[in-house]
Amino acid sequence: MTIQINLSKFQNTESKPFIKWAGGKRALVDSIIASMPRNFNAYFEPFVGGGALFFALKNQGFLESKAIYLSDKNTELINTYQVIQKNPKALLKELESLQKNHNKELFYSIRNLDRNKDFMHLDSIFKAARFIYLNKTCFNGLCRYNAKGEFNTPMGSYKNPKIYDKNLIFNASNALQGAQILCLDFVDMIKLAKSGDFVYFDPPYYPLSKTSSFVSYTDVFLEKEQERLREIFKELDSKNVKVLQSNSNTTFIKEQYKGFKILEIQAKRAINCKGKKRGEITELLN
Ligand SMILES: C[S@@+](CC[C@H](N)C(=O)[O-])C[C@H]1O[C@@H](n2cnc3c(N)ncnc32)[C@H](O)[C@@H]1O
Repeated sequence: MTIQINLSKFQNTESKPFIKWAGGKRALVDSIIASMPRNFNAYFEPFVGGGALFFALKNQGFLESKAIYLSDKNTELINTYQVIQKNPKALLKELESLQKNHNKELFYSIRNLDRNKDFMHLDSIFKAARFIYLNKTCFNGLCRYNAKGEFNTPMGSYKNPKIYDKNLIFNASNALQGAQILCLDFVDMIKLAKSGDFVYFDPPYYPLSKTSSFVSYTDVFLEKEQERLREIFKELDSKNVKVLQSNSNTTFIKEQYKGFKILEIQAKRAINCKGKKRGEITELLN
């Protein structure tokens, strides 16, 4: 006699980041959650990247019946979030085809599509699939653009990269239902925050040293940008918006946040362009 068991009942429904992201906070979410407020109204994440904290908060029920605002300056990333939220099935169809046909030639032809003028007009679902495909197959999952804004990370050497992952996409899609997903500079995003809301800032880190190669985004986020962020941070705090930030443990950053509570926590870097330089760095929670 054969007994059939319906395994779908036991499928994991936990949501998690659908991409690898430089500066991703998966290894730190427990420390971040321990330091965040328990009572707040809306949730804001203006440097969402891979969304490690958002997905963890969602899994743990912290965002139940709350308004959620997620944003980032990277248009390709935000398009991917929007497609996952609204069109997971169509996206998976594209990913399935990329999974079947993945090879070096396909990688470079897909990667180089943004060298064409028509790139902007490509179908948004296909562009989201391209973004995930490149992230899963390029060197170290590094999202790097040249000065013209073209994706220029070479192909990685993964034997069998998982490009099509039904559970990952559907779980992320469920977690994103009802969220506002916007492509904005952080300053424009937080205009929506009101007293009693909670904003978690995770900007590109201020480099640990002048030669530090960790910050690999095209985005420049040095002194001027960090100071712009400090002003916003202070302004929100004075309006009774609850604010929390992760940043690097440097004298410059500590000076910006004198008077705020600063916690030092240990982190292991997952992405660094130079494999040798992977290691522990200390993060700051303001
Ligand atoms: C450290 S990463 C965030 C990582 C994210 N917390 C995670 O867990 O994956 C910083 C993010 O800031 C975004 N960014 C850089 N400059 C920005 C700006 N001016 N406004 C909004 N987002 C920006 C980058 O695209 C990147 O996704």
